[in-house]
Amino acid sequence: MTAADWEWWQKAVVYQIYTRSFQDSNGDGVGDFQGIIQRLDDLRELGVDALWISPFCASPNDDNGYDVSDYYSVQPEFGSMEDLEELIARAGERGMKIMMDLVFNHTSDEHPWFQESRSSLRNPKRDWYLWRPAKNGKEPNNWDSFFGGKAWEWDPQTGEYYCHIFSRRQPDLNWANPAVREELKNIARFWIGKGITAFRLDAIHLIGKPLDFRDFPAGTGRAFRVWENTPETHAYLQEFYREVFGPFGVFTVGETGGTTPQSARLYTDRKRGELTTIFHFDHHHLPDNHDIHALLRNWELWQRGLGSDSWDAPFLSNHDLARVVSAFGDDGVWRVRSAQALGALLLTAWGTPFIYQGEEYGVPNAIFEDRSSYRDHHSAYLVDQFLKTGYLPDEVWNAYRSSTRDNSRVPLCWNSHDHAGFTSGTPWMPIHPRAQEINAEKDRSSEVSVYRFFIELIKMRKSSPALWRGDYRVLSRSGPVGVVVRRDKKGQRAVIVLNLSSRAHLMDLRSFGRSYLGKGLTLHLGNYLREEKIVEQEHPFYRPRPQLGEPLQPQLWLRPWEVRIYL
Ligand code: GLC
Ligand code: CA
Repeated sequence: MTAADWEWWQKAVVYQIYTRSFQDSNGDGVGDFQGIIQRLDDLRELGVDALWISPFCASPNDDNGYDVSDYYSVQPEFGSMEDLEELIARAGERGMKIMMDLVFNHTSDEHPWFQESRSSLRNPKRDWYLWRPAKNGKEPNNWDSFFGGKAWEWDPQTGEYYCHIFSRRQPDLNWANPAVREELKNIARFWIGKGITAFRLDAIHLIGKPLDFRDFPAGTGRAFRVWENTPETHAYLQEFYREVFGPFGVFTVGETGGTTPQSARLYTDRKRGELTTIFHFDHHHLPDNHDIHALLRNWELWQRGLGSDSWDAPFLSNHDLARVVSAFGDDGVWRVRSAQALGALLLTAWGTPFIYQGEEYGVPNAIFEDRSSYRDHHSAYLVDQFLKTGYLPDEVWNAYRSSTRDNSRVPLCWNSHDHAGFTSGTPWMPIHPRAQEINAEKDRSSEVSVYRFFIELIKMRKSSPALWRGDYRVLSRSGPVGVVVRRDKKGQRAVIVLNLSSRAHLMDLRSFGRSYLGKGLTLHLGNYLREEKIVEQEHPFYRPRPQLGEPLQPQLWLRPWEVRIYL
């Protein structure tokens, strides 16, 4: 391949915006399009190439936009269609593309299609959703909902059940109906016409329900497997690719839980023509978040398993997960260093990395004392689940607080002023309890800044082919330090050394051998580099900081959460 054969997204870094919590521009307490426009220069400075904007179509907000009631209009809380068009144009002027979040597995129960569908058995839209009669006076089958309870809701008006894999206010569309698929393609084309050049496809692994609606085999856990990643789903995506994604050349990322590298390849293999890449959640299901080797091995497994005809989309955070610095890092004394180190892990990975708003400032979980501060009622069902399995209320409350999606959904803190500079009015959910201590302005002006380190990382990634397209090999197998070698086909190398622990560690590289590490590598970036203005201390335990440009040494003494990148 020549340079020109590489697609824009292969060199890109994407930034996810959860609009309602990003920046409010008009004082109503809800983030909006004009708020994003105000922040475009910051995003450009960070160096990101595309903005994934969480759903912005009209929605009654049962699930904050992941329940659409009109695919052709925007959520009035976020602004007007003109505001969105302005956002697309202004981002474009700064070289940034907009990735739209398409929620096509289900709609809101307030969508007119569903209103019509539920109105009578003979309504032409009846077959746009999944209706089934009762079986022995109960649900048609044993499928579970992700948000708790069964995936079926009884509708008295026509005396049948409808399927909802998420909340009962999110009825699933019937993709087996060609009229539904045609309309969804029209919607995608409509937005492409508005200048959208990339899509994130919500819960796309669930669209192809097995047509026989068979029961999930009893006693084997929750009933997700039956309708995840089915052959029907692949067939629908191939059709979509042929008619929409392919012809318009859009970049697509599918949310596909429950995949392995082998099954994911069915979506991402270029020859099959389905999606560009996918989000899998494998690394979020490791038995121990602090086992750095398990994490690195998992990334290596995916990179190798997907193979060169596919492409990965590494991420550590999003709007559905707890904050990465709290989950994988250390949000106490080592918060800044660990956020930097995790940023290095992400931004030296293979594929197109995704940053979630606030990750670049090392924002930790938002732990509120008071239960009424929380907003996401869909993660609240976890509380009941836990209580049923015999946990004590205190343990449950703590588990809830450290895992709820609200950790990532509280408004972003821009400064130490009122409401953290997010809004001049009353924010839609309380401001982060650590807003005074942790905010964008403070981080940027600190001696040690997560944000400025992210800028360096992104710059370095773009200037080093080994870092954005080289293969990914993990050398170390034990201890708190990971050593990764990225090697590009032309033989360019990058060695990344990551101490993902709150302890200092002496790392011996000699056993890996020169042939792995490569000769002539020098230090290009680190989060503890020696600066002239720091006076070196005379102390028996003192070890000098590493210096830019120094050669890779056989033994490295690493500080807590220290990372170094050698090229
Ligand atoms: C996806 C979204 C999540 C949403 C769900 C239902 O998993 O990321 O936020 O609740 O789909 O649309
Ligand atoms: Ca607003």
